[in-house]
Amino acid sequence: MQKHYVNVGIVWFVLTFIGELLVLGYVFPPQLADSAEVIDEAFQLLVLLGMPIFTLVVAVMGYSLLKFRAKGDTLEAGETIHGNNTFSLIWLLITGTLCIIVIVHPGLTGLAALAADGEPDLVVQVVGSQWAWRVTYPQYGDKSIFRAANNSTEEAMLLPVDQQVRFEITSLDNDVLHSLWIPAFRIKLDAVPGTITSFDVTTLETDSYEENPMLRIQCAELCGLSHTDMMLPIKIVTQAEFDAWAGSGGPADAADTPAGRGKQLAEANACIACHSVDGSTGLPGPGWLGVYGSEEMLDDGTTVVVDENYIRESILDPNAKLVEGFLPNLMPQTFGDTFSEEQLNDLIAYIESLSE
Ligand code: CUA
Repeated sequence: MQKHYVNVGIVWFVLTFIGELLVLGYVFPPQLADSAEVIDEAFQLLVLLGMPIFTLVVAVMGYSLLKFRAKGDTLEAGETIHGNNTFSLIWLLITGTLCIIVIVHPGLTGLAALAADGEPDLVVQVVGSQWAWRVTYPQYGDKSIFRAANNSTEEAMLLPVDQQVRFEITSLDNDVLHSLWIPAFRIKLDAVPGTITSFDVTTLETDSYEENPMLRIQCAELCGLSHTDMMLPIKIVTQAEFDAWAGSGGPADAADTPAGRGKQLAEANACIACHSVDGSTGLPGPGWLGVYGSEEMLDDGTTVVVDENYIRESILDPNAKLVEGFLPNLMPQTFGDTFSEEQLNDLIAYIESLSE
């Protein structure tokens, strides 16, 4: 019996040695914010501490499978094993101590390192919705970026380098949970309707999504049909470049016309997450480009001319007259409460303007 313990001990030692070398040699993806350094360090320490326990289980299991497997037909009962108090006590002492150590470091020390340190240089407000991200920069005249899943009008959100940035995250009212994940920052936080969650990071290097696909906002909470496409590229630039970009005016087409107001409503309520406005197809709802005045085939075989009344009915009661090829119940049926009569007219004016 003694021989087996020694053998398992040797296997355990070799596996642990190889495992720890692999952990130490692992190269992390680029760390583009201070948070990434804290998280990666904690991750590495935890894997280093966990490795000997993993290899012990593997060594004992693998050795037993090979050494004590049934040979031939004769099966006999194994040796009776009794508990070993000394072993149990030592095991509890070691693992208990390890647990307390990791609670303090990297647990408490890591949380302290990640906690916001003073006032941020830049605040960005991020709102998730099915299925789009909207980013607003309140310090820059509410400059905003809107990106819907699969929407071809794609623009990256910019961040200045070497600056402390505060993300304030929420979801649209009456929407579902989303989760804001930026792999290059190793940060992930839920976007919850009615609640603002936030974190601060300091950007470390200029980079872009094209160079480094981890530099993006990605939804990390299963939120429906286009969840996987709920992505917004990020670009980290110099302060001068950022100022030039962010200072270049508020939301596009903020003109105070019915159609201009309608466009803002359509973005703020994520209508254009499901309805393309540039003629692209593949989104859950009918596209708006050129739809006004057109004749559409409905799923019951009849046709309808898309006029003001049809659009109004489709906003208030989306299932009433469904265009062929589109699914019922995807669109919320609560927009009668969301929009005032005037806002409905603005939205219709916007859709109308896309056919001019
Ligand atoms: Cu939003 Cu997944």
